[in-house]
Amino acid sequence: MCGIVGYVGPQRAQDVVVDGLRRLEYRGYDSAGVAVVHDGVLAVAKRSGKLANLEKVLADKPLPPATTGIGHTRWATHGPPNDANAHPHTGGARRVALVHNGIIENYAELRDRIEADDHVFLSETDTEIAAHLVELQVQSGVDLQVAMQRVCQQLDGAFTLVAVDAEDPGRVVAARRNSPLVVGLGEGENFLGSDVAAFIEHTREALELGQDQIVTITADEVTVTDFWGSPVEPTRFHVDWDLSAAEKDGHDWFMRKEIFEQPRAVADSLIGRRGVNGLLQLDEMRLADEEIRDLDKIIVIACGTSFYAGMVAKYAIEHWTRTPVEVELASEFRYRDPIVDNTTLVVAISQSGETADTLQAIRHAKSQGAKVLAICNTNGSSIPRESDAVIYTHAGPEIGVASTKGFLTQLVACYLLALYVAQVKGTRYGDEIDEIMGQLEAMPDHIDTVLTRADSIYELARAHVATRSVLFLGRHAGYPVALEGALKLKELAYIHAEGFAAGELKHGPIALIEEGLPVLCVVPPRGRDQLHAKMLGGIQEVRARGARTICLAEEGDHTIEPYADDLIRLPQVPVLLQPLVAIIPLQLFACELATALGHDVDQPRNLAKSVTVE
Ligand code: M6R
Repeated sequence: MCGIVGYVGPQRAQDVVVDGLRRLEYRGYDSAGVAVVHDGVLAVAKRSGKLANLEKVLADKPLPPATTGIGHTRWATHGPPNDANAHPHTGGARRVALVHNGIIENYAELRDRIEADDHVFLSETDTEIAAHLVELQVQSGVDLQVAMQRVCQQLDGAFTLVAVDAEDPGRVVAARRNSPLVVGLGEGENFLGSDVAAFIEHTREALELGQDQIVTITADEVTVTDFWGSPVEPTRFHVDWDLSAAEKDGHDWFMRKEIFEQPRAVADSLIGRRGVNGLLQLDEMRLADEEIRDLDKIIVIACGTSFYAGMVAKYAIEHWTRTPVEVELASEFRYRDPIVDNTTLVVAISQSGETADTLQAIRHAKSQGAKVLAICNTNGSSIPRESDAVIYTHAGPEIGVASTKGFLTQLVACYLLALYVAQVKGTRYGDEIDEIMGQLEAMPDHIDTVLTRADSIYELARAHVATRSVLFLGRHAGYPVALEGALKLKELAYIHAEGFAAGELKHGPIALIEEGLPVLCVVPPRGRDQLHAKMLGGIQEVRARGARTICLAEEGDHTIEPYADDLIRLPQVPVLLQPLVAIIPLQLFACELATALGHDVDQPRNLAKSVTVE
């Protein structure tokens, strides 16, 4: 939530900062602002609404040609999204400008304290207090880095703060606690960003910052300390994607581009997983075999789409390893006093690696002695850094707020984890694991096949522009797919959508069925116990009450034909892997329907890509 950019170097700061904000806009789009330091004076421009509003202001009245600047794109927490609450905020003397991501929990108390000294506040934000406090410190004679240290020591909550001092040009100072910040290392220039997308067109060399650290960048130098001034050696990393990955590449939306990237993303997530000895390998995982053998229980924690990937993980891990798995919303986990100890593996799934609910749940699990394994897409982010082990997904940057390729690659990582645990615990024979790996490796082609049917799915979606409610049904691994399909439709099309386990319908939700209500049904493959037959029964029940059924069923399944008003064919794959293909039509459906309704698919209302507040 909120995107932050900082720059020092030879280029015009306004341009570098605004370009960075454009790439971070998916993190928040309630307002945007830039501050630069020029000739000992601050120049600030900010506007409510999307970045385009600020760009218009800057086109009419550019900021001075400074080479030091900071910028912010906001997801509002304290105070409505108006011009006054837009960042950057300044101290009373307009010597310091500062941007912030997170929530300063004790801001009211700090504000009361200095308001008594005639400090006037111009916004309703929790941020402005930090600008005043940093300014008071530099006015007392310390430099910006020491000022930032002293202020951070007083703050409670989550914050990335980035500040400039008009009397100290050529330097940007930032602090990080519980909110993301990375440093981009250029030649004669340096960058700060909430994530690497902010500076990817300038450099792919980066530093990750740890908890409670302060970084100072000048054009030639980067120094990192903790909040008490002790030097820290940050970890350097190379970003393995480039600018083209952060462009729309001819698509109308990032989301649509990301949907079509899924065959490649799934293939990339599978690369290098088979060792020379034929065994499955998860090199980066860093969990010893004994630790895996000793596991009594796995708890998966995640939010939103990642939570639904976790539900699929439960089916796969329990089926292949016979290890009990619980799946829990990260935001609920630590508040229910969970039973966790050193025989529990907590698996935290997060595309962004910055979700505050998940991060706090990890900290709680670790405090109880559990080992934590992160499944994450973002190098340098907090969740893998604070976990004991990590499996990186290889989706590349996901910029559309609605997760698509992030979800698919999380599923792949979950399957790999399940197979790896099965291999170590010996609950599956090598040739069984080999067979499933072969099925996984065939998935990119199957996903491609579904994508070739996009046009017919788009047509179906456009036929639903007047629809105000849609239900999604699934069973077994199709149930999380139904939930995820409903989430996509809610967040993009703003249509009431609910996913149900098909067997639950008769326990209440069937009362919602009325004439013409669209019901999307994820039909499991045939030939697995009673699953397929039971799903067919559920479909008949809703149809008998007037629902219009759109069925997703495998090729060759003719039993479904009499009960499907519309039929979307899926490749024949095993039931546990079916989510990888079944979610694709639902993603396409939501994307196209939202487009037809005239919504901004990449930046749906009220949302932000990375949810860094609890
Ligand atoms: O970055 P994370 O995977 O931790 O994010 C979790 C959710 O916020 C995220 O999946 C959200 O539900 C998406 N907007 C869904 O499309």
